[in-house]
Amino acid sequence: MQEKPTNPIGVFDSGIGGLTVVRALMERLPFENIVYFGDTARVPYGVKSVETIAHYARQITEFLLQQQVKLLIIACNTMAAVAYQVVDDLSAVKVLDVIDAGAREAAAGTRVKSVAVIGTPATINSNAYARAIHRYDPEIRIFSQACALFVPLVEEGWLDHTVTRLTAEEYLKPVLCHSIDTLVLGCTHYPLLKPLLQEVAGPDIRLVDSAEAMAEQTAAVLQERDLENREGAVPEYRFYVTDVPLRFQSIGERFLGRSLSNVRVVQW
Ligand code: DGL
Repeated sequence: MQEKPTNPIGVFDSGIGGLTVVRALMERLPFENIVYFGDTARVPYGVKSVETIAHYARQITEFLLQQQVKLLIIACNTMAAVAYQVVDDLSAVKVLDVIDAGAREAAAGTRVKSVAVIGTPATINSNAYARAIHRYDPEIRIFSQACALFVPLVEEGWLDHTVTRLTAEEYLKPVLCHSIDTLVLGCTHYPLLKPLLQEVAGPDIRLVDSAEAMAEQTAAVLQERDLENREGAVPEYRFYVTDVPLRFQSIGERFLGRSLSNVRVVQW
């Protein structure tokens, strides 16, 4: 497959949460064409088995490769945690994932060499963040916490709600009692909870938003491979989903931070 600078970047997620990554990419790389795939019919993945997640990841990868993408980004932490190899084995183009991007930034930023990671049960059980952080620095101590309730709370739009605050306090208690200075938001949905999580964690703890880290890494990789789109034309954004659920538009726009158009439904 020929990788051309004008070809789109393929980004995928279990649902619309990965739009936080698309948003960061649009801001960082405003001339890049983007094709997004969100498996809205089968979300959430974070509570499913490794076999099922890998099977879904394979289907999505095949779909995006048919769209002639020049780079594939696994925006879903859960898929990155348990199915990165499946995707990479299938792909003829370079594959980037949010876990590596977040891990690299956490490892570089911690002064006390103690980091907390929060994510879905599948991500945390896989230990993928700990492995990725240790690839950069094996001395870092890692404290992990699965936060299964955050995804539905964000989808409900309860970004600054008492219930979400109490839930966050409860989830973060066991990791905040260690002297950490970095908290990795290891799930597509968590960047939307950033202000609330920062308040609960306190001002001395730095939050690592894997969406932003991903955009930085993408920019570097495109430059390295001479694949930046230098045409300077208005970019094309295409969004594929497997279902259009209730409140899709409003939730999607919240994730994207702008209006969501050009949405197509894929029937499998
Ligand atoms: N996209 C998932 C992640 O980043 C969260 C939603 C899900 O559980 O599918 O882990």
